[in-house]
Amino acid sequence: MSKPANPAPSQLLSLLLCLSWALPWPCGALPSAPDYLQRGWQRLLEEGESCSDCSPEECPTPRGCLAGLVRDPCECCWECANLEGQICDLDHTNHFYGKCGDHLECKLDTGGLRKGEVPEPQCACLSSQTLCGSDGKTYAQICKFQEVFHAHPEANLTVAHEGPCESEPQILSPPYDVWNVTGQDVIFGCEVFAYPMASIEWRKDGAEILLPGDDPHISVQFRGGPQKYEVTGWLQIQGVRVTDEGTYRCFARNRVGEVAALASLTVLTPDQLNMTGLSLPRPRPGPEDDAESEESDDYY
Ligand SMILES: *[C@@H]1O[C@H](CO)[C@@H](O)[C@H](O)[C@H]1NC(C)=O
Ligand SMILES: *[C@@H]1O[C@H](CO)[C@@H](O)[C@H](O)[C@H]1NC(C)=O
Ligand SMILES: *[C@@H]1O[C@H](CO)[C@@H](O)[C@H](O)[C@H]1NC(C)=O
Repeated sequence: MSKPANPAPSQLLSLLLCLSWALPWPCGALPSAPDYLQRGWQRLLEEGESCSDCSPEECPTPRGCLAGLVRDPCECCWECANLEGQICDLDHTNHFYGKCGDHLECKLDTGGLRKGEVPEPQCACLSSQTLCGSDGKTYAQICKFQEVFHAHPEANLTVAHEGPCESEPQILSPPYDVWNVTGQDVIFGCEVFAYPMASIEWRKDGAEILLPGDDPHISVQFRGGPQKYEVTGWLQIQGVRVTDEGTYRCFARNRVGEVAALASLTVLTPDQLNMTGLSLPRPRPGPEDDAESEESDDYY
């Protein structure tokens, strides 16, 4: 009777990887196994209890480390630090998931948890100070800056100053083309990032006036947000008429420059709608219908 041979360490590693993804072994090359997970298992296997003598010349050279370098758990070789948002070891020992890079700390992420979910330790940026890079781009904080810095070392990127770069506005969310039937309400939105802060104006192509003008069925709104250094404008047309059809333009302007985005409004009369064969969205199902569909979802 032959005893099954003990799996070699590399086999053991692949077995552990399969297990950690709840797959039957052998589960193939696992290209999707994240690097940090492979490193974690590798570490448990190789390390055992103690560190052997350090031979720096045998250390592999880590490459493409976007969050910089940290020492391995034996304080011997350099390895890639973990990025913002990556899982990490809360006790800072670097024993399984690894250490966070510069300007990052390992924290329990308790935000956005659903009931019953266990918070996961993640690398979080220590700073929330917006920065302007020498490339003229705005970085949310130093950790985002560092990622680009490490990704393109040849660019010699530096921090130009704190706060966003001054630049012409950028339209993050432009107004979208819409159609509707006469009498319905229509709304266009325009979300803009700008530093210095931008103003938002609306115009209709072919008409000289700034909206809303003196037209009581048109209104505009303007508010800061949703994010820092953002502003959002809305153009609302109540009870659209055929004459409202056309192209509407959102202009975002600050002292550096101006940008525009446009969207068209198509207005159909009920007769035209009938001819196209299109139909208006059906009224939302009543509460009973909702409850029924939710129940059936639970069963399938
Ligand atoms: C990198 O940029 C800094 C500041 O802009 C400059 O002093 C330095 O000489 C540059 N280094 C290289 C290698 O280009
Ligand atoms: C037309 O406008 C109403 C609100 O006034 C809206 O609920 C509906 O989705 C619009 N229809 C289309 C096709 O956009
Ligand atoms: C739509 O057209 C059909 C015939 O093509 C007609 O019977 C119906 O009354 C029309 N509906 C409306 C709302 O005009």
